[in-house]
Amino acid sequence: MGVLDTHKKIETNVTLLLVLSFLVVTIGGIVQIVPLFYLENTIEEVEGVRPYSPLELAGREIYLREGCYVCHSQMIRPMRDEVERYGHYSLAAESMYDHPFQWGSKRTGPDLARVGGRYSDEWHVQHMIDPKSVVPESIMPSYGYLMNRQIDGRYIADLMRTHRRVGVPYTDEMIENARADFRDQANPDADHSGLLERYPGAQTRNFDGQPQLTEMDAIIAYMQMLGTLVDFSTFVPDPSR
Ligand code: HEC
Repeated sequence: MGVLDTHKKIETNVTLLLVLSFLVVTIGGIVQIVPLFYLENTIEEVEGVRPYSPLELAGREIYLREGCYVCHSQMIRPMRDEVERYGHYSLAAESMYDHPFQWGSKRTGPDLARVGGRYSDEWHVQHMIDPKSVVPESIMPSYGYLMNRQIDGRYIADLMRTHRRVGVPYTDEMIENARADFRDQANPDADHSGLLERYPGAQTRNFDGQPQLTEMDAIIAYMQMLGTLVDFSTFVPDPSR
């Protein structure tokens, strides 16, 4: 009896086909899943990636609240058209502190994974208040009211503790200084040495141009750091992964 005849037996016997298919899928599944139990972390560590500063984290929270993710993804796929348009493809490490992650599969607006530094703060303020005034064909809604919503970081330490619970390595020192760091990042006259030690590369300035600290400051602080933590002029992917 040849191989084809044996196969015919399997193909014409439903029970046998089901049992054998189940076996194949089970073995395949185990081979894929078991190694993951022995790996501490499947994400390659990349220099420069750090947890969000308190103000950036607050901005991210506003981004989630406002549903920006409904129209914007934050994942540049490793395909030529995407890399040419948006920059280096996204690394897993770049969203390792995102809970929940913002990858997304639907883009009504452009991907924002590397929007940091692409526009000035003034552009962002103008764009958020009236998108059509800077991009005439835009269908993005206006978020001008963020300019009027003052924030004081009252709950930021709680938010950071929540993120620590799900694995973000916020230290006690970071949480103790959360509220001060929150205020200082948007205050150009503050002493930023502690903040910059805790969050290397954090950008410090008055983001929305108003004297009050508002949700607009927070969301622009967040926009302006997206995709800027890794220095791609020196980054080399680890070939063993
Ligand atoms: C209804 C869909 C929609 C929603 C919701 C939305 N956007 Fe947009 N966004 C767009 C579109 C379309 C564009 C492209 C045109 C433009 O620049 O306005 C855009 C562009 C942008 C850009 C410029 C990106 C670039 O590379 O040029 C930024 C930054 C941005 N949006 C941020 C936000 C933020 C922050 C929120 C939430 C507060 C948000 N968007 C919510 C549709 C949306």
